[in-house]
Amino acid sequence: MAEPKTPIAGLRPDAEPALSLRDLRVTFRGSSGPVPAVNGVSLDAYPGQVLAIVGESGSGKSATALASIGLLPDSATVDGSVLINGTDLNAMPEKQRVPLRGSSIAMVFQDALAALNPYRTIGRQIGDAYRMHHDVDRSTARERAVEVLGRVGIREPERRVHDYPHEFSGGMRQRAMIAMAIVNEPAILIADEPTTALDVTVQRQVLDLLTGLTDDLGMALVLITHDLGVVAETADQIAVMYGGRIVESGSVLDIFDRPAHPYTRALLRATPNLESPGRLAAIPGLPASGTNLPAGCPFHPRCAFAAEVGETCRTERPSLETRPGTSGHRAACHYTAEKELPHD
Ligand SMILES: Nc1ncnc2c1ncn2[C@@H]1O[C@H](COP(=O)(O)OP(=O)(O)OP(=O)(O)O)[C@@H](O)[C@H]1O
Ligand SMILES: [Mg+2]
Repeated sequence: MAEPKTPIAGLRPDAEPALSLRDLRVTFRGSSGPVPAVNGVSLDAYPGQVLAIVGESGSGKSATALASIGLLPDSATVDGSVLINGTDLNAMPEKQRVPLRGSSIAMVFQDALAALNPYRTIGRQIGDAYRMHHDVDRSTARERAVEVLGRVGIREPERRVHDYPHEFSGGMRQRAMIAMAIVNEPAILIADEPTTALDVTVQRQVLDLLTGLTDDLGMALVLITHDLGVVAETADQIAVMYGGRIVESGSVLDIFDRPAHPYTRALLRATPNLESPGRLAAIPGLPASGTNLPAGCPFHPRCAFAAEVGETCRTERPSLETRPGTSGHRAACHYTAEKELPHD
């Protein structure tokens, strides 16, 4: 694993967050009752910074993302606030949200092929996204598409703008998706597993593109991934999700050098690492999600430290508390509220 980026000190008290979630809750209506997917998530994403959300499958990452952009199906109930530059998207009727989507907040999905229309040229799709927010004709929109395709690293964009999605490689399609997402220069870009379907080399290039755009456009990038290896070089801040909650958050150094939640440490140990390739350790037990959420700390059945703490872990939900002596390193753990995790 390469050296993590030096994080900007604290949480940039000089800047206002572009996106703030406050006590976000998402519940799906399931056939056998309500399925809680997000259980009170609060976070801030700042302009020009990358906030990575990591966690195992089912931890509520996509539900958090889709709630943030207001794209969950009708079977979902969303409570809490989604503040975009201070305005609560979740309190707005759909009619008022539409103009914000794309211009203030945009999203890149994991599967670019499924997200692109196979019957429309790449240029037309990017141009149409531009025309949603700009009163321009098709040819002006096509010029903008050429410009943005060039910006995301597509060679000969004047020619490729006429291609259909199937004429692009997987990596190029993901770039085209990113072009479509940034064509209106949104303040916030959410990328949900944007590189999972790509091979490692292309994965690296797409991540570099996303971080480059974050710097150049001053966007707040929310990068969702289950892979802590991906975030080491990319992120400024990290939020670790488990069972629909944030169980630890902080700077990259906080999370990688001083993890304060046994789940974060287990995730780090389960991440392939060039320095110690032999130490890959799977996290025992099943992830908690949806209706299968234990009482107390949701991680306690899988936690090596819960036995030492005793009943509290089984009965009391730990709250996310700032670690003493830090500006923004927070963890929700009864064990580390009292003491450090022991060294190996
Ligand atoms: N449309 C839906 N209907 C019912 N339950 C859902 C729906 N979408 C997600 N869920 C449930 O919500 C919980 C969180 O799912 P979510 O997709 O947010 O997880 P995730 O962290 O994005 O996982 P992954 O890494 O697999 O993408 C899971 O228990 C999931 O089964
Ligand atoms: Mg997901």
